[in-house]
Amino acid sequence: MSGVDWEPLRARARELSGRAYAPYSRFPVGAAALVDDGRVVAGCNVENAGYGVALCAECGLVSELVAGGGGRLVAVTCCNAIGERLMPCGRCRQLLWEHGGPGLLVDTPLGVLPMSEVLPQAFGAADIDHITRGAAGVAGREDS
Ligand code: THU
Repeated sequence: MSGVDWEPLRARARELSGRAYAPYSRFPVGAAALVDDGRVVAGCNVENAGYGVALCAECGLVSELVAGGGGRLVAVTCCNAIGERLMPCGRCRQLLWEHGGPGLLVDTPLGVLPMSEVLPQAFGAADIDHITRGAAGVAGREDS
């Protein structure tokens, strides 16, 4: 679909799942994405004795994206320890939305779908700008 060469991305995600630090859940995850400038960024989950501190694989991926100069995500794939496609969790869909928007292609267990279908009616920067850069926001800053 849409000219994306998915196999190298899937292979990279699988490779990264092998580097996961997941001693608590024993559920390694790998993620890889294509950036609009041709880069490939990737991540694995990194857990912590404070269970709630766990970083999803997509967090590492987005970190690499931003630390490497930014850009827009074009296509993303996540997988479990045996290479099966994994749907990004809700929090990670939000994280990915910020850097890929509605057109970001997600390699889901049901096939490749745009982010607009897997995170419908997403909250995003536009919702904030609407208030902070609009009339209400300007009025709200008058006394600051
Ligand atoms: N996990 C991810 O890395 N990405 C997801 O989208 C779903 C969940 C990780 C977090 C945790 O380390 C383990 O999977 C079990 O929830």
